[in-house]
Formats: sequence, structure tokens, C-alpha cells
Amino acid sequence: MCGIIGYLSRTKGVSKKIIHNLKKLEYRGYDSSGICLLKNNKFLVKKSVGEIANLEQKLNYDDDCVCGIAHTRWATHGKVNLKNTHPHLCPNKTWAVVHNGIIENYLELTKLLQDKNIKLKSDTDTEIIPALMEICEEKNNMDKLKYVTGLLSGSFAICLLNKNENALYVARRHSPLYIAKNQDSCMVSSDPVTFGEDYTTYFPLPDDCFARVDLDTMLVYNKNFEKITLAPCEIGSFEKSAELGKYSYYAEKEISEIPKVVEQILLNYKTVDHFKKLNKQFFKNIKKIKLIGCGTAYHACLMGEKFIQKDARIEAQAYIASEFRYSHPLISNDTLCIFVSQSGETADTLLSLELAKKMGAKTLALVNVPYSSIARSADITLPLCAGMEVAVMSTKAYNAMLTVLKMLSLHLRQLNKNNVDEDLKVLNNVDYFKNIDKIDEISDLVLKSEKVFFIGRVEDYVTSLEAGLKLKEITYINCVSLPSGELKHGTLSLVDNKSLVFVIATDENLLSKNLASASEIKARGGKIVLVTNLDVKRQEEIDYLYKFDKISSSLSSILSVIPFQVLAYKTCIKLGYSPDKPRNLAKSVTVE
Ligand code: F6R
Repeated sequence: MCGIIGYLSRTKGVSKKIIHNLKKLEYRGYDSSGICLLKNNKFLVKKSVGEIANLEQKLNYDDDCVCGIAHTRWATHGKVNLKNTHPHLCPNKTWAVVHNGIIENYLELTKLLQDKNIKLKSDTDTEIIPALMEICEEKNNMDKLKYVTGLLSGSFAICLLNKNENALYVARRHSPLYIAKNQDSCMVSSDPVTFGEDYTTYFPLPDDCFARVDLDTMLVYNKNFEKITLAPCEIGSFEKSAELGKYSYYAEKEISEIPKVVEQILLNYKTVDHFKKLNKQFFKNIKKIKLIGCGTAYHACLMGEKFIQKDARIEAQAYIASEFRYSHPLISNDTLCIFVSQSGETADTLLSLELAKKMGAKTLALVNVPYSSIARSADITLPLCAGMEVAVMSTKAYNAMLTVLKMLSLHLRQLNKNNVDEDLKVLNNVDYFKNIDKIDEISDLVLKSEKVFFIGRVEDYVTSLEAGLKLKEITYINCVSLPSGELKHGTLSLVDNKSLVFVIATDENLLSKNLASASEIKARGGKIVLVTNLDVKRQEEIDYLYKFDKISSSLSSILSVIPFQVLAYKTCIKLGYSPDKPRNLAKSVTVE
């Protein structure tokens, strides 16, 4: 959440480069944005509310500066307005800061500043940071940074400028921050995706560390104030894979990539034996599996729970990460905790991982962003191979999660037999978008209805949850997802002739039960859209039949969600909203 850029160059005119790269971080927050350039020991600040394009209009790019910081904001403390937009300066304008995260004790620290007669201008938790730097009595700037970050509790990635130096001061706790350097420039960023054009390597700043970077040196300290050396990471194809190409929106592009992503997973797992360490020895004492994630990744966990219990007959349970941490989980060394995350930076998932490790669990992560904190922290990581996902609404990463979870559950069923890919090979030969044009008509039905429901059983119930989340997230249409069998235990009272109910059915054995639920809805005047890949003989209850391609029921969920991803997208476009940047949201939720 929020995007940070810090940039130093031997060549003047840095604002263009800074904004160009800040735009690559816009998916992390787009409430407002700002830039601070350093010129003749003075800060030049420009801010704008809304997308970065608005900020761009205020810049003419003819600055002769060599140094600057910038930020794209997802508001946490303080309304979306210019006053609260970063960068923030201290009263005597010596320090400027951009910040990602939440300073939990900022009210306490604000009091401390008030006692020293320091007046703050914004409602943010961030502004205290440069103000504390100003009043700090330490002589050396690194000592000041150490002292001030020591006062902060919560999460932060910060990048500071001092008006008297062409240098970037950075620090982080729980929020990611990366540094890249070459002969001519250096850049600090909250996502290495900004480094691809100018650098070949970068350095992830470790948790609780801080650094001073200039064009010639990089001084890094750990929390004990010992100097440390960072290991460089190569910039790979992932960091370079965010081009929009011929598409109008990332959401459209990313949905279209689903078949390629699944193919890529099968190929990658065939070439590299990612399951090697997940052998009999690893599972010797494992009695139960917990799967933990948030939002769409949580839905993947729910699906994983069903896969593992059915295929491998091991007790499995999915948890929402923000709930898991506070529900006194029963974990010991007989527990395997599986963390699922596209970004690998989701704060609740990351903190759950730390908790599970502390409590002695074995940890496995399924992560898309290879350099992320979760990928680096789990005992074993299985890559999702989906390429960079930019749209806030997660699509292809979800299909990737299901594919890898299915591989895992089959692997657990036949530990050490090693021919999992045989079962999944059929995924290379299905039509992922069969009948997809019909979604256009169905989206008109959605727009005409007052109430929308998604129902299904077992795996199809999980798909109904994900279908509902997609629709809510980018169309702002309120809808309800629930297991078909639960309808008559309360929610059926909502159903009337203004209701549209999507019934998802991919399991032959449960088809008649799902059709019975459809009859109950029909009897109350509701309209039914049946989404299935089964042969349906009895069609009286159905107003609209949407059929996707046939595939064994154990793999259906990888396909059955696609019509709903497309439905959300099409409906969103018809309503004139942005499918990539839904209101109030941002990708990569790095705050609790
Ligand atoms: C919904 C969506 C979110 C994320 C959730 C977890 O479309 O994208 O619900 O799934 O914020 O994010 P990751 O997977 O990055 O941990």
C-alpha cells in the first residue's frame, strides 16, 4: 500500500524519471500523490489529489535537480486531500519524508512534539517523522534516524531527504523497501518493478534496518547499529513483466493470461522439482494442515482445504489471516501452516507466518512475487508463476493458486511417486474461455436486478465466494454468496422477483441438490443462471444456462471462476468504473 520512490542521479532533471517510476507503483494506492525535489538546499514540493496524471499536469519536467522523493498514497490516517498528501516536511524544512505503513503510537509522539511547541499541519501519522528528526539532539543524521525509528511502533518503510545533502535516508519495519544502484544513479522503491529499465541488481533492505545511500556509497545498519552488507538480487523477468500491451486494462490482460499462466506452472514444475523437500521425511509428523490468507487468497485457501482433505485425506482448515492471529490457534510441530499470497507482502498473512514459526509449525508459502517477504521467510516456497499482477482485483493469481494447490494435494496423496503433472496435463487442452461472449448478456441481467446471489456446494461454494468478491470489488454491487444448502436457513427470505441467483454446479453428485435449490428460488420469483460444465437434462428451473468447457470435476474450479471474473469486468466497464483501480482499495495490503 502506497508507493515510494527516492532517486539520485549524476544528471540533472530527475522529476521525469521519478514520475515515470512512481506510475509503476500506482497500483499500490491512487488517492493522491506528491513529489519533493531538492534544489540549492531548498525543497520544491508539488502535490495533487487523485491519480498521478493529475500531479504530472503540475510539473513541467524542466527541473535542474539531481535528487528527489515521491509518493502515491492510499490513505490510512487523514482524509484524501492536499494537506495529507506526502511528502511531508518538518517545520524548519530541513527534512522531507515519504512513508508507507502505519505509525501506531503517533498520537503519543504528537504530544511529545506539542510539548516542544512543534505544530503539525496534516492529520497523518507520517508528519511526526520529519518533525522528530528536526528536534532530535543527536549530531549525526544516521544517529538521528536510528533514534527516531526506535521511537516508532507499527509498520513503516520511509525515505527521507535532508536539505543539505544529496543522499537518501531509508528505514523499514514490516513494509518492504528496496535499493538499486549503478554508476550514474541510485533508486529506492517500495517495489523492484521500478528497477527493470536501469539496473541489473537490487538490494532488499532487511526488516528493522536503516541506510544512507548516495551516488558513491551505501551505508546499512541493523537495529543494533552494526554495519551490515546487503546481498544483491538479480532483476528477473517478473520485475519486467508489467507491460499493458494491446489491452485497455490490466484486469482484461490478466484474465486473458490465465491459460498461459497454467501452462507456465505445469512447465515450471516439470522442469524444477519444487516438491523435492516436501517428502515423506518432511511430512513424517504432520497431522494437520492450516491454510492462511486474505481475500481472494483466503478463497484459494478454502479451496486448498477441500482439495487436501479429498485428495490426501489429511485434516485441513483454512483461516482468514487477520482472524487466525487472534483466535488462539492450536499449533505445534505436528502442524504444517500454508500461507497463500499473490503479493507476498500482505501484513496479516506475513504476521501470521511469523506467529506460526514462533509456535513451532513447519511453514510453506505459495507466493507469486518471488522477492517478497513471505517468499523469503517461509521454510519452503512454491512459486505461483503468474507474472506480475497489476490490477487491484486478483484474477490470474487466483487460478494459479488453485493450480498449485491442486498439484500439492495430489502430491500429498502420492508422496514420492512424482507424476503429478500427468493428472494435470488436461489443463493444457481445455478452452478456458468457451462461450465467454455470452457473459455480456448475463451482465445485462445483473444490471437489471436489484439483488444478486451466488450459491454452490463445497468447491462451488468457494467459487461463489470468489465470484461475489469480484463483483463487489469492481462494480460496487452488493451481493451475497452462500452454500446452496444454507439458503433456507435464513437468506431465502431476501429472494423475490428482483433477484438474480447464480447457481454454480460442477459436481455430478451434487447436481440434483443444486437444482432443488434452484426450484426453491424459482418458486419465490428469483431468476436463475446455472453455471456448469455438466450435462443438464432438467432445465425447467433455469432461466439462463452458461456452460464452460468440460474437464474432470476435480479440476473444474480452475475454470468455473473465469466466467465470474469476466462478468465482474464487463459489468464494471458498462457502469463506467475503472476495473484496475477500484475505489477505496489498493493492491498489496501492507498494513494490518
Ligand atoms: C481481491 C484481492 C484481495 C487480495 C488480498 C490478499 O481481488 O485482490 O482480496 O486477494 O488482499 O492479497 P495477497 O494475495 O497479495 O496476499
